[in-house]
Amino acid sequence: MTFVSIREVGPRDGLQNEDPVPTAAKVELLDVLSGTGVRRIEAVSFVSPKAIPQMADADEVWAAATKAPGVRYSALVPNSKGAQRALAAGFTEIEVVVSASDAHNRRNLNRSTEESLEDITGLIQAGHDGGATVEVIIATSFGCPYVGDIDPTRVGEIVDRVVRDGADRVAFGDTTGMATPSRVISLLRAVDRKVPLLLHFHDTRGTGLANILTALELGVTEFDASIGGLGGCPYAPGASGNVATEEVVHMLHDMGMDTGIDLDALIDAAAVAERIVGRTLPSGVLRAGPRTRLTPTP
Ligand code: COA
Ligand code: ZN
Repeated sequence: MTFVSIREVGPRDGLQNEDPVPTAAKVELLDVLSGTGVRRIEAVSFVSPKAIPQMADADEVWAAATKAPGVRYSALVPNSKGAQRALAAGFTEIEVVVSASDAHNRRNLNRSTEESLEDITGLIQAGHDGGATVEVIIATSFGCPYVGDIDPTRVGEIVDRVVRDGADRVAFGDTTGMATPSRVISLLRAVDRKVPLLLHFHDTRGTGLANILTALELGVTEFDASIGGLGGCPYAPGASGNVATEEVVHMLHDMGMDTGIDLDALIDAAAVAERIVGRTLPSGVLRAGPRTRLTPTP
């Protein structure tokens, strides 16, 4: 049976794009997710509290969260300072983000892509010296909201460079939901996959599950997903969260694939996420339940 490795990113990518919630609510969400069977959780990010106030309590959240055996927890960082904070907090999996689009990198990280890549060289070394693996997430890999299409060759160059620097894994971020199956095919054909690859799709334009299916056919078996489809900014028109974890798992299990996740427990976790953020989340499987759940006859 094919094992598909799902990384739950709701506690970070989801909550950073929602109205701020109390520390205890973040811990509750992490703990309920840790009990679903999911093997990987992106728990927090160590970023500037001025840039992302929602993650200002990352240390407190992580200190209070249950560390479940069998779950790999990771932290996202924007720079070497963030990596030092992640190591000090005890993380052994670090994800550093850089955008393929210079315009997006400047907006997100206040520096050029080149400056970020220079920092990443030392960050990978420091992460390894501190006993952590380092993943490089290449944001806007499938397109940039400021400059449009991104040449897959450019993404490939960044992959080659960070792999030379020692990156343990690369991830392609579809930051604003610009990926489609045909663009997934073009990008995957253009890059040299020398290290494990993970894909991160936002479902902004409804192509999230189709993108995952396409990537599976091309041999990718690691995906990010967000509980309930948490995320996106309610004030930014059209913004939306990652593909909902329970929708991905529902589809994969029906295809005979294994994720290690208990779908019913995941749907319960999505209900917790919905209560915590106080708005209806965009997940069909949360609304309707799995296709195996029958409606009682009247
Ligand atoms: N965590 C906490 N504080 C940080 C930090 C980090 N990772 N990196 C820098 N800082 C602090 C500096 O120590 C400095 O503090 P001071 O004013 O008290 O001296 C201050 O932030 C400014 O440092 P500087 O290096 O000039 O950062 P900046 O203001 O140019 O911001 C980033 C750059 C990368 C830190 C900021 O843009 C950021 O955190 N972006 C993250 C965005 C994000 O999370 N996007 C979503 C994920 S893809
Ligand atoms: Zn994202």
